[in-house]
Amino acid sequence: MRPRKQAAPFERRNMTLKLIVWRQKNPDEKGQFETYTARNITPDHSFLEMLDVVNEELIREGKNPIAFDHDCREGICGMCSMVVNGIAHGGHERTTVCQLHMRKFKNGDTIYIEPWRARAFPILFDLVTDRSALDKIIEAGGYISCHTGGVPDGNDILISKTAGDYAMDAAQCIGCGACVAACPNGAAMLFTGAKVSHFAALPQGQVEAPERVAAMVKAMQECGFGNCSNHYECEAVCPKGIHTKFISRMNREFLKALFKENTGTFTPSEK
Ligand code: FES
Repeated sequence: MRPRKQAAPFERRNMTLKLIVWRQKNPDEKGQFETYTARNITPDHSFLEMLDVVNEELIREGKNPIAFDHDCREGICGMCSMVVNGIAHGGHERTTVCQLHMRKFKNGDTIYIEPWRARAFPILFDLVTDRSALDKIIEAGGYISCHTGGVPDGNDILISKTAGDYAMDAAQCIGCGACVAACPNGAAMLFTGAKVSHFAALPQGQVEAPERVAAMVKAMQECGFGNCSNHYECEAVCPKGIHTKFISRMNREFLKALFKENTGTFTPSEK
């Protein structure tokens, strides 16, 4: 048997990078940028693994590691949140920062790392921000009320493929808040629009549609988010490709709710 041809060894040169990272001890203290060196970083490290390597070195030296949010590291939970070189999640199409790999950088690169910056997301510690304002919007109406009980029969409520696909496109939002961080007005309209549209597209969500949109828009404003000013930065940085058409849908749903309120067919909840 002819010996198998050996593949040429893949050259994988470990990288050394200069990191300029935002450090802040608490919400009240003024933060500042600090410089670190990331050594022995392979192209296969994810961005968060690269920070793990830096943190292990900081811990060995008896220094405070860099605090950052993360959970799934698979691009599905929305916890990771940092601005890399001035762009939320680093600017690679449909990529959360946990799915960003170091092969996108070159040996010797300088990387700036900052937290989300928005009035509604106060910085808690280094790169960790308080994004509970998004939870408040969901609490205000991001659900449907229904009786629980036995499992409903399949195809009990028929949903067209078009409506299902549309709802799934909106439901892909992972609530990371990159849209807010990228918006010059710190608006959460892409996030709220996706949640409103997701339910408004489906029969189960249409019953409470006016209450939902009125309550969620109210919560959005109370939490200190700005309004959309058509910069489309939110759509550009969204790691799930949420389309700004969902903002238009939310505006239409809101106008419908106002009309129903004015004609006495719907009274917004006071809560
Ligand atoms: S850590 Fe879950 S999406 Fe990045």
